[in-house]
Amino acid sequence: MFSRRFFLSSIGCIPFSSALSQIISDKKLNYGSKVVDGILQYDMVAKNGYREIVNGVKSQVIEYHILGQPKSMPFPVIRAKVNQKIRIVIKNEMDKTTTVHWHGIRIDNKMDGVPYLTQEPIKSGETYVYEFVCPDAGTFWFHSHQNSLEQMSRGQVGVLIVEEEDINNPAIKQFSADAVWVAKDYYIDDKGELTNCTTKKTAMTSGAFGMQKRVNGKEKSILRAPAGSWVRVRLLNCDNTRLMNISAYDEQDNKVEAFVIAIEGNPLKKYKLLNRDDLTPGQRLEIAIKVPKSGFVAIKNVFQKNPYILGVVMSNGNPVNEKALLPLPMGKIPEPDLKNAKRLRFIFLASSASMGRFWSINGKSMVEHSSPDDHKLTHNSLSCTKGMKNEDMPIKMNNQKMAEPLAVLEKNKSYIFYIQNGTPHTHPVHLHGFSFKVLKSNRYKINPYYTDTYPLKPDERIQIAFLADNVGCWMFHCHIIEHSATGMMGYIKVI
Ligand code: C2O
Ligand code: CU
Repeated sequence: MFSRRFFLSSIGCIPFSSALSQIISDKKLNYGSKVVDGILQYDMVAKNGYREIVNGVKSQVIEYHILGQPKSMPFPVIRAKVNQKIRIVIKNEMDKTTTVHWHGIRIDNKMDGVPYLTQEPIKSGETYVYEFVCPDAGTFWFHSHQNSLEQMSRGQVGVLIVEEEDINNPAIKQFSADAVWVAKDYYIDDKGELTNCTTKKTAMTSGAFGMQKRVNGKEKSILRAPAGSWVRVRLLNCDNTRLMNISAYDEQDNKVEAFVIAIEGNPLKKYKLLNRDDLTPGQRLEIAIKVPKSGFVAIKNVFQKNPYILGVVMSNGNPVNEKALLPLPMGKIPEPDLKNAKRLRFIFLASSASMGRFWSINGKSMVEHSSPDDHKLTHNSLSCTKGMKNEDMPIKMNNQKMAEPLAVLEKNKSYIFYIQNGTPHTHPVHLHGFSFKVLKSNRYKINPYYTDTYPLKPDERIQIAFLADNVGCWMFHCHIIEHSATGMMGYIKVI
């Protein structure tokens, strides 16, 4: 229970992030962007650094930074217009190789950022250019896809907001504020020291948790807007591990109405009441909240026994006349042809294989391919397993040839994937390069919707469908990074 007193006292002692959140959410300022040869360009570095996560101490982190964006931002925010081509020039200033994956973008396969599968890794000191069109408006993100367990758990993520074509559409204009709230925990103890982001035991179960729960790098976010108006909160789970269920409460801890307007960058035809909605790693919820006249609306993670506040919405300035909420304009995801669709089966299971492969898809356990350069550097100070002996490390470096695809699909054919979870754990199932339509689940009544990440619950069976209109090799994996890094990963090939 959060009493009003608890909340008010927490304003005094807990670092709420208001100014920082304002910068992160400021859509008028495409901080750091410039136009080069007619294309919107962002210059970005990937680097090791320091950030104050717990009071008064600077802890080691690995981050992206966009030149021209404030250093106070714990992750960069890229903004583009739908159908606009953007260019991201990234310099790798880390001592390990990396790639950048643009999660949820129906992208040209060459730009998908998977080492060896779609590109050569970006070596230490090298610069690499990503250039692509964002075909859908919505909330997306990006992250390292090589040495990803280490790089992501130490902070290396970013936000990609694709804005709607028509900013004068009443459904876009109805919001008095448009906020970005990134939930991402830090593997740091109360003294600011790094903690392990994986062990054999956590990788084999639900994953390791960061001790410091953070939103936009702070304990909570705060958004102020005129009472009576609607605000749009883009909530992203960029954490490696933490499963969330999201609900809205007032200051008396009574549930209040808030609405889900988009899931994983896909607007819902009819918005739905927010009620313990899943927000597992990789997922994004766009929520419309009406600003209360007094008190606040708190957005909480209620997954655990002890719910906690991710952010609050409070009034500021003169109240405005209340209006009915309008659904967002729909996207243009191609409809799969269910009648003529080909059916394929996938089962997510534990693995009997050894060598740090604890998980599998259809009996295969693919793990991330590393670069020869990285072998020399397995024990740097930022590794995931500080002070652990080599044999305790769940991830073994591998240099074997690229695995075979889980399935080969024919271009422009429709597919229905029958996906089964044969484990007692939740696995956020993510497919690169497509938004798929969720058709059925044995656990829930599904109102079909599009997504790129589905939170597959223990023993759940689902059906998803999509039109295979994008040629290339597309990763298909669990988004709990310790699971994907230890085998719950594979890819499909569209030819
Ligand atoms: Cu965000 Cu391969 O994933
Ligand atoms: Cu998993």
